[in-house]
Amino acid sequence: MYTHHFLLLTPGPTPVPQEIQNAMNTPMVGHRSKAFEKVAKKAFSGLKTVFGSSNEVIILTSSGTSALEASMRNLINPDDHIVVIVSGAFGARFQQIAEAYSHNLHVFHVEWGEAFETEAVLNFIQSIEHPISAVFTQYCETSTSVLHPVAELGQALKQINPELFYIVDGVSCIGAVDVNMDRDKIDVLVAGSQKAMMLPPGLAFVAYNDRAKNQFSEVESPSFYLNLTKHLKSLEADTTPYTPNVPGFQGVVQYCQMVENEGFEHVIQRHDFIRNAVRNALKALSLNLLVTDEAASPTVTAFVPRDADELTYIKSQLSEKFNITIAGGQGKLKGHILRVGHMGFISPFDLLPFIASLEMILSAYRQEDYIGKGTKAFLEVINNEL
Ligand SMILES: Cc1ncc(COP(=O)(O)O)c(C=O)c1O
Repeated sequence: MYTHHFLLLTPGPTPVPQEIQNAMNTPMVGHRSKAFEKVAKKAFSGLKTVFGSSNEVIILTSSGTSALEASMRNLINPDDHIVVIVSGAFGARFQQIAEAYSHNLHVFHVEWGEAFETEAVLNFIQSIEHPISAVFTQYCETSTSVLHPVAELGQALKQINPELFYIVDGVSCIGAVDVNMDRDKIDVLVAGSQKAMMLPPGLAFVAYNDRAKNQFSEVESPSFYLNLTKHLKSLEADTTPYTPNVPGFQGVVQYCQMVENEGFEHVIQRHDFIRNAVRNALKALSLNLLVTDEAASPTVTAFVPRDADELTYIKSQLSEKFNITIAGGQGKLKGHILRVGHMGFISPFDLLPFIASLEMILSAYRQEDYIGKGTKAFLEVINNEL
């Protein structure tokens, strides 16, 4: 029986606004037409704002992982010594990609649920006998909901070695965080469409600086579909080397327009205060948070039910009774945490049904009265910050 609207609160895919759906639903055009070139040009350059990039951004017709793989394939040679920071399931994915390409991989492990400490990463790099060519990290580690201090690390890395490449996976936070590739010393920044950029899945983005661009053409590692030099050559002619996701490109143009209309600074603030409100509400409901306030991502929040039975009850009741989908844990956090996404096309009140449902679910499960507690804590933050 239908009672509640469906509410998608996973850390990707995320809800797609009607304006983007409409833009994607316009009549198809050929990808070798002037009409598509106009769209592509707008999309490549419109993305510069959210990536904090001075160069136009490459768009791949594939999911976020392809951009992770492309960043590795196009920047490093198999004998280069590289460092991959692993702080969760997506760091582990970067590690797996590296294992396929690199003979000299050094993994820096961070406790899942914690942000890396810049000093510790530097000490690790300095303890390696060989010069390091590249460092790879997540910006937001989606599996734990940590936002890493990537700007701090970028600046520190370039002080010890300006030649090193710094590659950041921003799949689950680009579009919601203040990033500037020059300021933060990031050489390559990648993202995917289906998260804070409020597009359907299926597009990946690669932003790069001039130094990285030169390296793309010099690297010896073979690649074909993900050869970024080929993509750049096409980008300069306002097109793509292979058939692109044409509606996706139209969606990107609309997305950039929506960011411009709202103002990117406001987009960032909106994510910050929704994150703060969600955290305050979960604390008021006696649900532990996996991550400290300092390391909390503005796009996703991981919380820890009291035990596995409570976790299963919360997730299934949210879905079956209230039509709300959130995510479970991944890897070693599976069965231990739940994750609620709050990014992209999201406004503060979109989270209220989730908090209100939790109040009812916990009241029933714990036999304690939580009604009004979470929503009050949520609204207190929103009221103060709006
Ligand atoms: C941080 C991060 N990196 C990479 C990926 C992989 O992206 P995709 O599933 O689009 O290939 C994800 C997906 O959730 C992610 O959150």
